[in-house]
Amino acid sequence: MPRSVRVRVPAKINLHLGVGPARPDGFHELETVFHAVSLYDDVTAGPGDGLTLTIEGEGAGELPTGPENLAIRAALVLAEYTGVAAEASIVLRKGIPVAGGMAGGSADAAATLVACDALWGTALPRDELHDLAASLGSDVPFSLAGGTALGTGRGELLTPVLAPRRRHWVIAVADGGLPTPDVYGELDRLRHRGAVPAAGPAEELLAALRDDNPAVLGAVLANDLQPAALSLRPRLRRTLAAGLDEGALGALVSGSGPTCVFLAADDDDAVELAATLAGLGVCRTVRTAYGPVPGARVIAEAERD
Ligand code: C5P
Repeated sequence: MPRSVRVRVPAKINLHLGVGPARPDGFHELETVFHAVSLYDDVTAGPGDGLTLTIEGEGAGELPTGPENLAIRAALVLAEYTGVAAEASIVLRKGIPVAGGMAGGSADAAATLVACDALWGTALPRDELHDLAASLGSDVPFSLAGGTALGTGRGELLTPVLAPRRRHWVIAVADGGLPTPDVYGELDRLRHRGAVPAAGPAEELLAALRDDNPAVLGAVLANDLQPAALSLRPRLRRTLAAGLDEGALGALVSGSGPTCVFLAADDDDAVELAATLAGLGVCRTVRTAYGPVPGARVIAEAERD
């Protein structure tokens, strides 16, 4: 068994997010296309007295370090399932925006499952890790899997999708977060009041992923949660419009927001668009990223003495 394990896990965006009605359990039935992009959190698990969590990086001060943190919950769920003592010191380095609609918390849970599974030598089969991940949150299984995948159910049922081209993204991170339940609630409220445009089925998006021309993909990006996120945070309209004015091939709110993402033709265009958006002051900070990238995976292990 290793002395410490470092796991890298990507952020996700939803290229298509179709939201059905609320189910009796409170979750909404989804048809979504997840896409893992190259913004990462790193989770390092080493030996510890009990279970501790230290958080470093951007937004670290805003996050709980106790059992309310999904990373701690992930370690506890794995320990209970496998019957090992929940003993690890976990260090989380944030690179994914906090509460930004990019599944940062879910990513940390997935990475902690993989790190503790290696640290404790429990070596769970992938399908059992997937089931534990689904018990922690709707997006956690995708954070394990990575790549590009169709998600159904509440998002936890995954089918890999053929997406052979690398796509280049500009990511506009907003000030503050948007709580996911509030955004789903706002969508229910808007729908109750009247017609809200709906994304419909994901077929066109799935076909566009196989097309060499990125403009084809840009034209079919869709997110049912976007009207709700815009209703709660109207100034995001300006961010989306600025990106399109400056030549983005497509723009949408990422998941429940408030992060906005823009498709660029290539890496050079992404860097240029990012610089322009940063200069316009339409968001807190801008990054570039590409996808698809792999899900949570071990990147370093230090052996026991
Ligand atoms: O699964 P997760 O804990 O990430 O979900 C957070 C919240 O987002 C849920 O409590 C629910 O309010 C909302 N949600 C939903 N339908 C989904 C996924 C999430 O309503 N499919």
